[in-house]
Amino acid sequence: METRIEGDIDKAQKLLEAGQLVAIPTETVYGLAANAFNSEAIAKIFEVKNRPVFDPLIVHIGSVDILSTIVTEIHPLLRKLMDAFWPGPLTVLLPKTELIPDLVTSGLPDVGVRMPKHEVALALLKQLNFPLAAPSANPFGYISPTSSGHVIAQLGGKIPYILEGGECSVGVESTVVGLEHGVVTVFRLGGLSIEKIEEEIGMVALRNHSSSNPVAPGQLESHYAPRKPFYVGDIEVLAKQFPDKKIGALSATEEVGTATISLVLSKSGDLNESAQRLFGAMRELDTADVDIIIAELLPETGLGRAINDRLKRAGA
Ligand code: TXA
Ligand code: MG
Repeated sequence: METRIEGDIDKAQKLLEAGQLVAIPTETVYGLAANAFNSEAIAKIFEVKNRPVFDPLIVHIGSVDILSTIVTEIHPLLRKLMDAFWPGPLTVLLPKTELIPDLVTSGLPDVGVRMPKHEVALALLKQLNFPLAAPSANPFGYISPTSSGHVIAQLGGKIPYILEGGECSVGVESTVVGLEHGVVTVFRLGGLSIEKIEEEIGMVALRNHSSSNPVAPGQLESHYAPRKPFYVGDIEVLAKQFPDKKIGALSATEEVGTATISLVLSKSGDLNESAQRLFGAMRELDTADVDIIIAELLPETGLGRAINDRLKRAGA
């Protein structure tokens, strides 16, 4: 199959209406989209990604008007978050309607919904009369794509169309929030920081710990992983630990002089810039002429937490 990369929203619409898959840009990462009401189209997503069916998909909307076809009720605190942060990198888990196939939620009663903050994605979603189910557009377990080039490198030949939307501005996946025992709980750290969420609705619970819990495979311990050995720790110590290897270093603010290739996430220590660059840098090192990749953690604040979460899982 020939894969085209173009910015033609009408063409993307036609393919999606015909039950085909289209990779779409969002502000977090590129998604692999299909009609969320069409279980045959959804099944193709799992096939192309090689994704286990116990891993649920996020449903994307372009307007809140369509929500009543997707979810049956909205808890007031979750509503408050949606009002404050949509469009944006926030996914909310809500009880699903019968129109959403069980395959989308892996049989769970709740569906993850989000409104992406990306002009091209929003224009497409507004043109459609169905929402789009879309996981990140990468093979299961690999690094998420933050440009159309990343998508074609992995899924080229397997999907007909990639809708061009430039580089993703946030760079890490959405924060997933739902209710557990009546308490607002963060199930996946992501592009919306906990600090911002708590400013809006007060303290929330966090259940992002590594687990093999099939309820939320974004939490699988080994995930977002490069193909090369990936070590996370004190980067100067790690740099000395492998004297006979070509080292690719991914550091927070300062270059690692002894590495073969040294990439810095943000010289000024800006966490948003670091998140934006993270996956691209991981891919660059994974495809470069180095044997291993070493990385260090960032401060555990703001988007630093989501970045550290991805780094730890890449190294697991
Ligand atoms: O930013 C994002 O969220 C990107 C873009 C494309 O929107 N999408 C994304 O999807 O990261 P994906 O499939 O790679 O990750 C979805 C994760 C699941 O692995 C799971 O952790 C959580 O979201 N999730 C989705 N639906 C859920 C549900 N019904 N219950 C619990 N967790 C859910
Ligand atoms: Mg993913």
